[in-house]
Amino acid sequence: MRDDNKPPFASDADRANEPQDGIEVRDAPVPRWSRWLFLILVLFAPAYFFFYHNGAEGRSLVDQYDRELAENLQLQFAEIGELQANREAVVEFLYKPTWLQIGKVVYKSNCASCHGQEGEGQIGPNLTDNRYKNIRDIEDILRIVQKGANAGAMPAWEERLSTNEIVLVASYAASLRGNEVDGGKAGEGKIIDSWPAPPKPEDATKGEAEEN
Ligand code: HEC
Repeated sequence: MRDDNKPPFASDADRANEPQDGIEVRDAPVPRWSRWLFLILVLFAPAYFFFYHNGAEGRSLVDQYDRELAENLQLQFAEIGELQANREAVVEFLYKPTWLQIGKVVYKSNCASCHGQEGEGQIGPNLTDNRYKNIRDIEDILRIVQKGANAGAMPAWEERLSTNEIVLVASYAASLRGNEVDGGKAGEGKIIDSWPAPPKPEDATKGEAEEN
């Protein structure tokens, strides 16, 4: 039966009401530190939530990541300066693998949802085959990316991406041609001529040359 030397788990009132059946009601309080911890966490959670998820620009991890990505892009762009959105630029960067990587970043975040992660086509046409609906010359890619096509089914990007991003993503889209991707969307449109050859070294450094 009850041993009165035991710590007083149950209150005296509880003990008075205890049925005399040998079963002892115990009420062991959780340790004080545990209650404090609980209280601190309860108070911390809303503060955390309001700080990071109140929609204020730039606080969430996603925003921080985007900002760092953008800063990185700015650093890289400082190297090529402001590109002209023209055929020469698209051809030039088609043959510059490091810059195509930046086009790829732009592609993954803006185009892959419709054209597939590897350009294999989804809502938008397959970009890895030799058939094109709107493209006859590599320059047309630039125009389609800027202005969109098919009444907005292909959105216009000129207001949403910088000129540099548009040129690099156009080069990247062109570079997908000829990639073997399993299960790609069936080709649409006509088979067109291959892309132009790489510019000769002296052309590449001139950059601004307007001649076709
Ligand atoms: C909302 C979906 C969507 C997004 C996002 C999208 N596209 Fe498209 N794109 C399409 C559709 C649909 C077409 C076909 C338009 C047509 O039927 O003429 C197309 C056509 C194209 C074409 C021409 C293909 C051809 O065969 O004529 C290119 C090149 C292209 N998109 C590149 C891009 C790039 C680069 C991006 C990202 C900056 C992008 N697209 C983002 C839906 C999309």
